Amino acid sequence: MKAIRGRLLTYRPAPVYEEDGLIVVSGGKISAVGPAQKLIPDLPPDTPIDDHSGKLILPGFIDLHIHLPQTKVIASYGAQLMEWLERYTFVEEARYADPEIAEAGAKFFLDELFRNGTTTAVVYGSVHRQSAEAFFIESAKRGAGMIAGKVMMDRNAPEALRDTARSSYDDSKALIERWHGKDRQRYAVTPRFAITSTPAQLEAAGALLAEHPGVYLQTHLSETQGEIDLSRELFPDAEDYAGIYQSFGLLGPKTLLGHCLHLTQREQARLAETNSIAVLCPTSNLFLGSGLADRATLNANRIRTGLATDVGAGTSYSMLRTAAEAYKVEQLQGRSLPAHEAFRWITRGNAEALGLEEEIGSIEVGRYADLVVLNSGATPAMAHRMERCESLEEELFALLTLGDDRAVAATYVRGNTAS
Ligand code: GUN
Ligand code: ZN
Repeated sequence: MKAIRGRLLTYRPAPVYEEDGLIVVSGGKISAVGPAQKLIPDLPPDTPIDDHSGKLILPGFIDLHIHLPQTKVIASYGAQLMEWLERYTFVEEARYADPEIAEAGAKFFLDELFRNGTTTAVVYGSVHRQSAEAFFIESAKRGAGMIAGKVMMDRNAPEALRDTARSSYDDSKALIERWHGKDRQRYAVTPRFAITSTPAQLEAAGALLAEHPGVYLQTHLSETQGEIDLSRELFPDAEDYAGIYQSFGLLGPKTLLGHCLHLTQREQARLAETNSIAVLCPTSNLFLGSGLADRATLNANRIRTGLATDVGAGTSYSMLRTAAEAYKVEQLQGRSLPAHEAFRWITRGNAEALGLEEEIGSIEVGRYADLVVLNSGATPAMAHRMERCESLEEELFALLTLGDDRAVAATYVRGNTAS
């Protein structure tokens, strides 16, 4: 048993704030939470207390879309999506055929997530089974709850990066059997996008979902016009891009669709009726020049939304930076994103998108003690700005706008310092 003290902020879904709060952790989960003054007298003698007084403690951030083999692709110059994939991304992902590279990559990747306060992520591996394997091994070692899958890709990619409908089915199935539900790991069936899969492979993805009802599905949808046009050419029988995925049984409440920038009304209706999740990736969309997500219309059409970095097209591992860019994307469309809404989104909101709100995403009894400790005055410019902050909401907004990994004072996974 241990305890963690600081300024607690969680969403239920309204913000709940405790200026001098205490989280009691036993067996990796939160066993009590409340005012420090009230809880400390009841702690068994000698219970260690990590004292973060003055700092904010929130549920660990959740990133709904990020690519493991793109840690050395981030910040690659001058291309839009399709050229970026061919010129930089596929070249780098081919290196993940080497299990040593996959293992080193997984270690760096998890270190970087934790350094940025992210405790759960939904991860694309490379096409190689060992990339997902290496990632799950490393995540399990660290006690983290991660969701990942090997990419399925059997056409329109370099030879070295192609699997087949059959091998992608077999490899994904083996990974599901080995990892899905093991400890805190979960599997996401991961056809990269319609362009890189034959109909036979999307059928295999649908079969995997039907045979393993608890697994997730992740793919990309409607990021650029060129991608939309090519997808429709490759699947002439489908009514639209989202319809391709729907016709193979790939839409549903556990389906995470990266980007969703240029959806038609009919496509939005497909997402809404299947309870699929549109995962918005603002730093990626700005970096590749793909477009601005229309969050207001998605919300109005009752589509569930999540927020994600999409590293390596995304430009930061930080969910603070990501939410700050989401704010700017709203501003470009004449709207805003209030700070509480942003912090709710990257914690509880993304947990709800995963259907995991009973496990993660809030500071409540029974949840995993996956936490991030934030210092609103981490840099001189931040500390200076904080001198004029008169409310929690103002502080949060400045923290979001100016903060990044430097604002992360500590990250906890299961109540242990994440490492
Ligand atoms: N569409 C298909 N693959 C990718 C990828 O790796 N990154 C992004 N941003 N879009 C994609
Ligand atoms: Zn992506």
